[in-house]
Amino acid sequence: MTRQLLVHDTPQTLAAAAAARLVTEVVDAIAARGRAHVVLTGGSNGNALMAALAASPARTAVDWHRVDFYWGDERFVPADDDDRNEKQARAALLDALDLDPRTVHAMPPSDGPDGDDVDAAANRYAADLVAAGGGAVPEFDVVLLGVGPDGHVASLFPGHPGLAVGDHSVIAVRESPKPPPTRITLTMPVLCSSRQVWLLASGAGKAEAVAKALTPVPGEPTLPARRVHGEQRTLWFLDRESAPAP
Ligand code: 6PG
Repeated sequence: MTRQLLVHDTPQTLAAAAAARLVTEVVDAIAARGRAHVVLTGGSNGNALMAALAASPARTAVDWHRVDFYWGDERFVPADDDDRNEKQARAALLDALDLDPRTVHAMPPSDGPDGDDVDAAANRYAADLVAAGGGAVPEFDVVLLGVGPDGHVASLFPGHPGLAVGDHSVIAVRESPKPPPTRITLTMPVLCSSRQVWLLASGAGKAEAVAKALTPVPGEPTLPARRVHGEQRTLWFLDRESAPAP
Protein backbone atom coordinates (compact mmCIF):
# COMPACT_ATOMS: atom_id res chain seq x y z
CA MET A 1 0.00 0.00 0.00
CA THR A 2 1.33 3.45 -0.89
CA ARG A 3 0.61 6.53 1.21
CA GLN A 4 0.91 9.76 -0.75
CA LEU A 5 0.51 13.41 0.21
CA LEU A 6 -0.98 15.87 -2.27
CA VAL A 7 -0.64 19.44 -1.05
CA HIS A 8 -2.67 22.19 -2.70
CA ASP A 9 -2.56 25.98 -2.30
CA THR A 10 -6.14 26.39 -1.11
CA PRO A 11 -9.16 24.32 0.01
CA GLN A 12 -10.73 25.19 -3.35
CA THR A 13 -7.88 23.77 -5.40
CA LEU A 14 -7.82 20.76 -3.09
CA ALA A 15 -11.51 20.12 -3.83
CA ALA A 16 -11.11 20.66 -7.58
CA ALA A 17 -8.06 18.39 -7.80
CA ALA A 18 -9.73 15.63 -5.79
CA ALA A 19 -12.87 15.89 -7.94
CA ALA A 20 -10.83 15.62 -11.14
CA ARG A 21 -8.96 12.59 -9.84
CA LEU A 22 -12.21 10.96 -8.75
CA VAL A 23 -13.58 11.21 -12.29
CA THR A 24 -10.49 9.41 -13.61
CA GLU A 25 -10.65 6.68 -10.96
CA VAL A 26 -14.36 6.09 -11.54
CA VAL A 27 -13.92 5.88 -15.32
CA ASP A 28 -11.04 3.44 -14.84
CA ALA A 29 -13.01 1.29 -12.38
CA ILE A 30 -15.95 1.07 -14.77
CA ALA A 31 -13.62 0.17 -17.65
CA ALA A 32 -11.93 -2.53 -15.57
CA ARG A 33 -14.88 -4.01 -13.67
CA GLY A 34 -18.07 -2.66 -15.24
CA ARG A 35 -19.08 -0.67 -12.15
CA ALA A 36 -17.55 1.69 -9.61
CA HIS A 37 -18.27 1.76 -5.88
CA VAL A 38 -17.66 5.11 -4.19
CA VAL A 39 -18.04 5.91 -0.48
CA LEU A 40 -18.96 9.52 0.27
CA THR A 41 -18.11 11.52 3.37
CA GLY A 42 -19.75 14.27 5.33
CA GLY A 43 -18.01 17.47 6.35
CA SER A 44 -16.79 20.64 4.62
CA ASN A 45 -14.06 19.11 2.46
CA GLY A 46 -16.28 16.29 1.31
CA ASN A 47 -19.04 18.72 0.36
CA ALA A 48 -16.56 20.98 -1.40
CA LEU A 49 -15.26 18.03 -3.45
CA MET A 50 -18.79 17.06 -4.46
CA ALA A 51 -19.67 20.66 -5.41
CA ALA A 52 -16.48 20.89 -7.49
CA LEU A 53 -17.39 17.65 -9.26
CA ALA A 54 -20.93 18.87 -9.95
CA ALA A 55 -19.50 22.07 -11.49
CA SER A 56 -16.87 20.25 -13.56
CA PRO A 57 -17.52 19.52 -17.27
CA ALA A 58 -15.45 16.38 -16.72
CA ARG A 59 -18.38 14.83 -14.86
CA THR A 60 -19.95 14.05 -18.24
CA ALA A 61 -17.11 11.61 -18.88
CA VAL A 62 -18.71 9.20 -16.38
CA ASP A 63 -21.64 6.84 -16.98
CA TRP A 64 -23.18 7.50 -13.59
CA HIS A 65 -25.61 4.61 -14.06
CA ARG A 66 -22.60 2.37 -13.46
CA VAL A 67 -21.69 4.00 -10.14
CA ASP A 68 -22.90 2.93 -6.69
CA PHE A 69 -22.72 5.51 -3.91
CA TYR A 70 -22.49 4.71 -0.21
CA TRP A 71 -21.68 6.66 2.95
CA GLY A 72 -18.85 6.15 5.40
CA ASP A 73 -20.99 7.55 8.16
CA GLU A 74 -24.22 9.38 8.79
CA ARG A 75 -25.79 11.54 11.44
CA PHE A 76 -28.76 9.60 12.83
CA VAL A 77 -31.38 12.32 12.41
CA PRO A 78 -34.65 12.57 10.43
CA ALA A 79 -34.36 12.28 6.64
CA ASP A 80 -35.15 15.94 6.05
CA ASP A 81 -32.74 17.27 8.65
CA ASP A 82 -30.12 19.63 7.18
CA ASP A 83 -27.50 17.83 9.25
CA ARG A 84 -27.81 14.64 7.19
CA ASN A 85 -24.80 13.86 5.07
CA GLU A 86 -27.10 12.30 2.47
CA LYS A 87 -29.17 15.50 2.14
CA GLN A 88 -26.01 17.60 1.78
CA ALA A 89 -24.57 15.18 -0.81
CA ARG A 90 -27.75 15.24 -2.88
CA ALA A 91 -27.71 19.03 -2.89
CA ALA A 92 -23.96 19.27 -3.63
CA LEU A 93 -23.73 16.54 -6.31
CA LEU A 94 -26.17 13.66 -6.62
CA ASP A 95 -29.18 15.72 -7.74
CA ALA A 96 -27.04 17.06 -10.61
CA LEU A 97 -26.19 13.58 -11.92
CA ASP A 98 -28.13 11.34 -14.29
CA LEU A 99 -28.05 8.29 -12.03
CA ASP A 100 -30.21 5.31 -11.16
CA PRO A 101 -31.75 6.06 -7.72
CA ARG A 102 -31.31 2.39 -6.75
CA THR A 103 -27.54 2.91 -6.81
CA VAL A 104 -27.60 5.52 -4.02
CA HIS A 105 -27.24 3.49 -0.83
CA ALA A 106 -28.05 5.93 1.96
CA MET A 107 -27.86 5.05 5.64
CA PRO A 108 -31.28 4.91 7.34
CA PRO A 109 -32.52 8.12 9.00
CA SER A 110 -34.02 8.20 12.49
CA ASP A 111 -37.50 8.41 10.97
CA GLY A 112 -36.82 5.50 8.64
CA PRO A 113 -38.05 1.84 8.72
CA ASP A 114 -36.44 1.20 12.12
CA GLY A 115 -37.51 4.46 13.66
CA ASP A 116 -35.04 5.68 16.28
CA ASP A 117 -33.57 2.21 16.84
CA VAL A 118 -30.04 3.07 15.72
CA ASP A 119 -28.73 -0.48 16.21
CA ALA A 120 -31.44 -1.89 13.95
CA ALA A 121 -30.69 0.85 11.41
CA ALA A 122 -26.97 -0.02 11.46
CA ASN A 123 -27.77 -3.71 10.95
CA ARG A 124 -30.10 -2.78 8.11
CA TYR A 125 -27.31 -0.89 6.37
CA ALA A 126 -24.96 -3.85 6.88
CA ALA A 127 -27.51 -6.02 5.08
CA ASP A 128 -27.89 -3.38 2.32
CA LEU A 129 -24.14 -3.49 1.74
CA VAL A 130 -24.15 -7.28 1.41
CA ALA A 131 -27.07 -7.09 -1.01
CA ALA A 132 -25.32 -4.39 -3.08
CA GLY A 133 -22.14 -6.48 -3.08
CA GLY A 134 -23.87 -9.64 -4.26
CA GLY A 135 -23.35 -11.54 -1.00
CA ALA A 136 -20.53 -9.59 0.63
CA VAL A 137 -19.59 -6.03 1.42
CA PRO A 138 -18.68 -4.41 -1.92
CA GLU A 139 -15.00 -3.85 -2.64
CA PHE A 140 -15.10 -0.08 -2.65
CA ASP A 141 -12.98 1.60 -5.30
CA VAL A 142 -12.60 4.93 -3.50
CA VAL A 143 -13.50 5.78 0.08
CA LEU A 144 -13.61 9.54 0.73
CA LEU A 145 -12.98 10.61 4.33
CA GLY A 146 -12.90 14.00 5.98
CA VAL A 147 -10.53 14.27 8.95
CA GLY A 148 -11.58 15.82 12.25
CA PRO A 149 -9.35 18.09 14.38
CA ASP A 150 -9.03 15.13 16.79
CA GLY A 151 -7.99 12.79 13.99
CA HIS A 152 -11.34 11.05 13.62
CA VAL A 153 -12.53 9.68 10.28
CA ALA A 154 -16.12 8.72 9.42
CA SER A 155 -17.63 8.48 12.92
CA LEU A 156 -14.67 6.59 14.35
CA PHE A 157 -13.32 8.78 17.14
CA PRO A 158 -10.10 8.45 19.15
CA GLY A 159 -10.70 6.46 22.33
CA HIS A 160 -14.30 5.69 21.36
CA PRO A 161 -15.52 2.06 21.59
CA GLY A 162 -16.52 1.97 17.93
CA LEU A 163 -12.90 2.24 16.87
CA ALA A 164 -12.12 -1.22 18.24
CA VAL A 165 -15.01 -3.05 16.57
CA GLY A 166 -13.78 -5.69 14.14
CA ASP A 167 -16.67 -8.15 13.84
CA HIS A 168 -19.28 -5.82 12.34
CA SER A 169 -19.26 -3.87 9.07
CA VAL A 170 -21.59 -1.13 10.30
CA ILE A 171 -22.18 0.09 13.86
CA ALA A 172 -24.20 2.60 15.82
CA VAL A 173 -22.28 5.39 17.55
CA ARG A 174 -23.61 7.06 20.67
CA GLU A 175 -22.28 10.09 22.52
CA SER A 176 -20.26 11.17 19.52
CA PRO A 177 -17.77 13.93 20.47
CA LYS A 178 -18.87 15.73 17.28
CA PRO A 179 -22.58 16.65 17.16
CA PRO A 180 -25.05 15.25 16.57
CA PRO A 181 -24.45 12.58 19.24
CA THR A 182 -26.01 9.57 17.52
CA ARG A 183 -24.50 8.30 14.30
CA ILE A 184 -24.01 5.26 12.08
CA THR A 185 -20.58 4.42 10.71
CA LEU A 186 -18.67 1.85 8.70
CA THR A 187 -16.08 0.14 10.84
CA MET A 188 -12.30 0.34 10.41
CA PRO A 189 -11.89 -3.14 8.81
CA VAL A 190 -14.49 -2.29 6.15
CA LEU A 191 -12.88 1.06 5.38
CA CYS A 192 -9.51 -0.65 5.09
CA SER A 193 -10.86 -3.34 2.74
CA SER A 194 -11.33 -0.73 0.00
CA ARG A 195 -8.95 -0.32 -2.93
CA GLN A 196 -8.25 3.34 -2.16
CA VAL A 197 -8.81 5.63 0.81
CA TRP A 198 -8.66 9.40 0.24
CA LEU A 199 -8.32 11.62 3.30
CA LEU A 200 -9.35 15.26 2.92
CA ALA A 201 -8.13 17.89 5.38
CA SER A 202 -7.72 21.63 5.01
CA GLY A 203 -7.03 24.56 7.33
CA ALA A 204 -4.75 25.21 10.29
CA GLY A 205 -7.26 23.52 12.58
CA LYS A 206 -6.36 20.17 11.09
CA ALA A 207 -2.57 20.58 11.06
CA GLU A 208 -1.95 18.88 14.41
CA ALA A 209 -4.14 15.88 13.61
CA VAL A 210 -2.53 15.54 10.17
CA ALA A 211 0.97 15.75 11.68
CA LYS A 212 0.17 13.10 14.32
CA ALA A 213 -1.44 10.85 11.74
CA LEU A 214 1.52 11.07 9.39
CA THR A 215 4.12 10.82 12.14
CA PRO A 216 2.61 8.99 15.11
CA VAL A 217 3.77 10.21 18.51
CA PRO A 218 5.35 7.40 20.56
CA GLY A 219 3.25 6.60 23.61
CA GLU A 220 0.11 8.21 22.17
CA PRO A 221 -2.76 6.12 20.77
CA THR A 222 -2.70 5.78 16.99
CA LEU A 223 -5.24 8.14 15.49
CA PRO A 224 -8.09 6.78 13.34
CA ALA A 225 -6.76 8.92 10.48
CA ARG A 226 -3.47 7.00 10.78
CA ARG A 227 -5.02 3.58 11.10
CA VAL A 228 -7.23 3.88 8.06
CA HIS A 229 -5.75 2.93 4.70
CA GLY A 230 -6.68 1.54 1.30
CA GLU A 231 -5.46 -1.89 0.21
CA GLN A 232 -3.70 -0.35 -2.80
CA ARG A 233 -3.43 3.37 -2.10
CA THR A 234 -3.96 5.96 0.61
CA LEU A 235 -4.03 9.57 -0.57
CA TRP A 236 -3.93 12.63 1.65
CA PHE A 237 -5.42 15.75 0.06
CA LEU A 238 -4.13 18.71 2.05
CA ASP A 239 -3.77 22.44 1.72
CA ARG A 240 -0.81 24.58 2.76
CA GLU A 241 -2.29 25.18 6.24
CA SER A 242 -3.04 21.56 7.11
CA ALA A 243 0.12 20.06 5.58
CA PRO A 244 3.24 19.40 7.62
CA ALA A 245 6.13 21.78 6.98
CA PRO A 246 8.16 20.57 3.95
C1 6PG B 1 -19.44 13.72 9.69
C2 6PG B 1 -18.23 13.32 8.93
C3 6PG B 1 -16.94 13.54 9.67
C4 6PG B 1 -16.23 14.65 8.90
C5 6PG B 1 -15.06 15.21 9.68
C6 6PG B 1 -14.41 16.39 8.97
O1 6PG B 1 -20.51 13.19 9.43
O2 6PG B 1 -19.37 14.61 10.51
O3 6PG B 1 -18.31 12.31 8.12
O4 6PG B 1 -16.13 12.42 9.76
O5 6PG B 1 -15.79 14.17 7.67
O6 6PG B 1 -15.54 15.61 10.92
O7 6PG B 1 -15.35 17.38 8.82
P1 6PG B 1 -14.91 18.84 8.29
O8 6PG B 1 -14.23 18.63 6.97
O9 6PG B 1 -16.17 19.62 8.16
O10 6PG B 1 -13.97 19.42 9.32
